[in-house]
Amino acid sequence: MIISVDLITSNIWTVILIITPILYFIYYRKFRIFIYDQPKKVTKGKISRGKCPPSYPNGWFWLIDSCNLTPGGVRFINHCGRDVVVFRGHNGKPYVLEAYCAHMGGNLGVGGRVRDINCIECPFHGWVYDGETGTCVFSDGENRIPRRVDTFEYADLERCTPCSSSNSKSMEYLQKVAENQEIKLKTYECRELNGSIFAWYHADEILRHKPLYELIDIQDEITRNTMEVRGESINYVNCHVQEIPENGSDVRHFDFLHESILDSISFVKFKWTPSAERATNPNLRQIMAHSNPSAHAYKMHLFDKFLTEDNVRYINVICLDCSIRFFNKYEIFLFNTTGFQIGPSIVYLFLWSPYFKLTLFHTLTPLEKFHQRVVHRIITSTWMPYWLSAAMLMGEVKQLYADMKIWNKKIFTEKLNYNTKNYADKCLHSYRNWYAQFYEGCYEREAKSLSW
Ligand code: FES
Ligand SMILES: [Fe+2]
Repeated sequence: MIISVDLITSNIWTVILIITPILYFIYYRKFRIFIYDQPKKVTKGKISRGKCPPSYPNGWFWLIDSCNLTPGGVRFINHCGRDVVVFRGHNGKPYVLEAYCAHMGGNLGVGGRVRDINCIECPFHGWVYDGETGTCVFSDGENRIPRRVDTFEYADLERCTPCSSSNSKSMEYLQKVAENQEIKLKTYECRELNGSIFAWYHADEILRHKPLYELIDIQDEITRNTMEVRGESINYVNCHVQEIPENGSDVRHFDFLHESILDSISFVKFKWTPSAERATNPNLRQIMAHSNPSAHAYKMHLFDKFLTEDNVRYINVICLDCSIRFFNKYEIFLFNTTGFQIGPSIVYLFLWSPYFKLTLFHTLTPLEKFHQRVVHRIITSTWMPYWLSAAMLMGEVKQLYADMKIWNKKIFTEKLNYNTKNYADKCLHSYRNWYAQFYEGCYEREAKSLSW
C-alpha cells in the first residue's frame, strides 16, 4: 500500500491544528490566574502559645476579593472573632454589618437578600436593614421609615426565675427593658481597592467610624508599569497574628531559613540582604538608598508616592536585595524589594529587577485566636509568560511554607532578649514597638460559643 507524503503531511497538520488550541486552552485556564489553595487547612492551635498581646489588633482587615461579590451578592464572613454580613448593593457599593438580625437572630449572611438598592432583608421574617446606617427600616425604595419596637429580655437567663414584679397567677419571665426604640445593627467602615474589600475595626467606639489611616491604592502603579494580577496563594497558619508580619523585619532569618531554592539542589542558594525601618525615621531615604541607579529611582518614586504625612506613623518599611549564589562563590543579582507594611495586617512588596517588575500584595485575616488566613497576590508585567508567574508564586509559597513550619509550633515569647547593638535585634525591637500601637484599647475577645 502506498501512502502519499502529501497525505501524511496534511494529517499531521490537522492533528496540530486540533491539539494546539486545546493545549493552549488548558494552559490559559490553569495559569492565566493561578490559584494555590492550601490543601490541608490547619485546625485551631493546640499547643501553648505563651502570654500574648490581644489576638485582634486595630486596623483594616481583608474580607473578600471584589470579584467574588457581584451586585446583589451576600456573604457571611467570620473575621477577628466577629461574624459579619458583607453585601454589594445594586448601586455597586459594598456594605458590612453585624451578621445577626435584631429580631430573633436570623443570619443575614445566609439566605439574606439585597433589597431597595442598599438594604438587606433577613431570611427569617423579612426585617430590612439599611446598609449605610444599619437601621432596621420599613423600606420602599428611597422611602425608609425606621422600625420602632419594644425590647424584652429574660429577667434571669441562667436560672429562669420569674420577674420579681410578677404575681403567682401570671408568671412573667421576660421584662421590658426599652420601649418604642429604633433598632440598629453595628456597621463597619469598608473600602474597596486593589481588587479586594476591607473592613475597619477599632476597639474604641469613637474610632470605629474614623479610620486612623487609609490603605494604599496601587492601581495607578499597576497601570503605569503595564502589569496585571496573575494569581494568589491562600494559606492557613496557627500562630499569633503578629508573628506573620513581623517576619519581614526579622532580618536575620532570611539567610538562615530562606536560602534554599530547591531542596534537591544544594550548590545554588539564595543570598538575602535585608533591612527594616519605621517610615517615620527622618533618615529613611539615606538608609534605604540603593547602589543600582534604576532600583534606587524606583524606590524613591515609591517613597514619594506612598509615604504621606497622614500614614507614615502606621507604616514600617522593609528593603531586601536577593541574589542567587552558585557554589557559595559566584553571585548574580536577582531583584530588590521595597516593602510597605501598613497597619497590622497588610503588606505591599514592590520588586525591581533588571529582568522584570513584580508586585506582591499580602493580606492577613485572623479567623479566630491563633488561626490566621494568609493570602498573597502576585501582579507581574503583562509580557511575562503565565507559567513563569505561576512558578514564581509557587517559589514564594515554598518560602512561606518554611516560615509556616516554625509559626505553627512556636510560642510568642512576651519576654524578649535582644542585643540592640546587633542590627537584626535592633530591627525586631523597633518592629515590636511599632506594632504595639495597633493594640491600643484592645481586649481579648473570645469567639462566642454556640455549642450545645
Ligand atoms: S429573625 Fe430576622 S426578621 Fe425575624
Ligand atoms: Fe520568612
